[in-house]
This record gives sequence, structure tokens and C-alpha cells, in this order.
Amino acid sequence: MKIDGTAYRTIWLSADGWSVDIIDQTKLPHEFVIENLRSVTDAAHAISAMLVRGAPLIGATAAYGVCLGINEDPSDENLRRIGGTLIATRPTAVNLRWAIHRMQAYLQDIEVEKRREASYAMAAEICDEDVSICSALGDHGMTLIEEISKKKPGEAVNILTHCNAGWLATVDWGTALSPIYKAHNAGIPVHVWVDETRPRNQGAHLTAWELGKHGVDHTLIVDNVGGHLMQHGMVDLCITGTDRTTAAGDVCNKIGTYLKALAAKDNNVPFYVALPSPTIDWEIEDGVADVPIEVRNSHEVDYVQGLDSNGVISEVRILPEFSPSKNYAFDVTPARLVTGLITERGICPASKVGLAGLFERNVA
Ligand code: MRU
Repeated sequence: MKIDGTAYRTIWLSADGWSVDIIDQTKLPHEFVIENLRSVTDAAHAISAMLVRGAPLIGATAAYGVCLGINEDPSDENLRRIGGTLIATRPTAVNLRWAIHRMQAYLQDIEVEKRREASYAMAAEICDEDVSICSALGDHGMTLIEEISKKKPGEAVNILTHCNAGWLATVDWGTALSPIYKAHNAGIPVHVWVDETRPRNQGAHLTAWELGKHGVDHTLIVDNVGGHLMQHGMVDLCITGTDRTTAAGDVCNKIGTYLKALAAKDNNVPFYVALPSPTIDWEIEDGVADVPIEVRNSHEVDYVQGLDSNGVISEVRILPEFSPSKNYAFDVTPARLVTGLITERGICPASKVGLAGLFERNVA
């Protein structure tokens, strides 16, 4: 996608041919800073401190993290160690495990002295694949927006989204926002309700920024507004992303997604979830019981980050010094609340049969 006319991906090989550049998302929307990753430690830090975030981009960064580790030491022992370091960074997005296992499985069959080159080729393949998957799911998702648009000619289709599942969360295009970009590019009038998404405000900081940079009409709302909008017919469609979708179609996404799905159900608003297939965890079915939910540092709840009156990015504390807080980062929306899953192979019911039908898995 373009920023002020220049095309960017969220991660790319640096001009030196071996280190890796990323956009530091902790500084957006106020500063656009490119960070250079030079070691597996740098890559692990970028993921855990959320310089990069969003399930597909976490996977892509882990893939390049493996390259940076192999660059230092291509041995079998190090290949295992790198995997351990990277997998410990964030527990919920299954794309992390998927990318590391794919890199390890490929590299372990390759002679040690050829691993460096092979690792970079595979990481590039993972990134390119993510771009084409997200583009394809956008094409499928756009048909939903088109259908609604036909029923209200001349009016914008109002879409509510949560967190950031745009191009910043992937290598390019995004998941939940990809259908929106495709619709906008095709001239379909759209307007996006952007949930602020406390505590880290990915909606306010990232979704609003990238939609605005692409010229998509949007309005920021605080996290508790969605239900009210739905009661008043102001939301035609919800689309969110997911960090892990179970084989039975339960969806784990940024904390607060579940409440939006409940409100959507009560108001007959279609609630779709967009996902690339590496976000499916085929090993589990019951999301509430089995998806590991990340609990992050309470500091993110206790403080709000923004631009101060001197134009400096700073933090302010919002609760008493003596009050404890808790920072659950994700929740699970059961499949029964999800109208459908938008994937690169098409749209399917959020169910075991639906997913298996698209991805040719055997249903027990
Ligand atoms: O904690 P984050 O910012 O990594 O959480 C991101 C989300 O919850 C996204 O909705 C999810 O990764 C899907 S993104 C394409």
C-alpha cells in the first residue's frame, strides 16, 4: 500500500542484502520510523515489544528472524535455539509457530553451508505468499460489500472493525481491511467505524492512519460505542481479523471482539472474520478452552500514549497509583456468533465442515 504516494510493505530486506527493515508501529501515527533488525534478538524484541504486530506480520518477522539467526550460525543446534527464542515472544497468534516450523522443516533438510541463502529465499516466499493470500481474501470479501452497496445506491456501506487488521498487520493489503481497500479502489462508497481498541489503541493509532493515508472515509469511536451504532442501523457489516481460528471456526482476536460479535448478533448485523489460512490452528477446536490468551504488562492499561502539547510522543497515567489492573490481550468469539469466514479460497461458514470444505481437510 502507499504512504504519501510511495509503495511500502511492512517488512523488507535491507539494501545490504542481509539485514531486515520494518516500520516501527509503536511510533505511528505521529512518527514514521524505519527500524533495522540485525539479529534474532532484534527480531524477537520487535515482535514482543510490538514494533511489528498482527498475526501475519508476526509470522513474517519470525521467518526473517530465523534468517538472521542462521546468518550468525547455521548449525542444527542453533536452528532449534532460534525457534525457541522466537516462539517465546507472543503466545496467541498461531502464524508465529506456523512460520517458524515451516522455516525449520525446510532448512533442516538442507546442507549447513547452503542454509543462509535458502533461509532468505523461504522468508521471501512466505512474505510474497502473504501478500497474494491477503489480496485474494480481499477480492472475496469485497463481494459482501458490493452486495450491500447494491441495496443502498448512492450511500456508503458502513463497516465496523476492531483493532488493526489492515496492511500494517500483514505484509501488505491486510485481512479485515483488504475487502475494504478493494471496494474503495473499485469505487464502492464505504465508511469505516474504527474501534479505538484499548489498551494499545491499534484502531486509533494504526487503522485510522492507514485508512486515512489511502483516502478511505472513516470515523474513530471509543470501544463501547459499537452496540449503540448497531441498535440504530448505523452498521451494515462488521469485519475483524483473527490471531487464531480453530478447526471448528472459533475465532480468537484482539480483546473486545467478542463483545462486538454479541452486539452484532442481537442486532442482526452480519459479523465476518477475515483470515489467511496460516491463521487456522487445525489442532484445536474449542477456542475458549484451548487458545492461549496473552496477558501483557499492566503498564499498557495504566498509561495512555499520545502526542503531548510539545509535539513529543509521551505517556500519561490514568488510574490511581494504588489500583491494580489486568491486561488480557485477546478473547475468543465462538463460531456460532460468526456469520462467515473470509479466506483466500472463498467465504465459508464458521464451522468444521465449512473450513474443511475449503481446505480439503477430512472431517471426523
Ligand atoms: O496485539 P496485536 O496488535 O498483534 O493484535 C492484532 C489483532 O488482534 C489483529 O486483529 C489480528 O492479528 C488479525 S490481523 C491481520
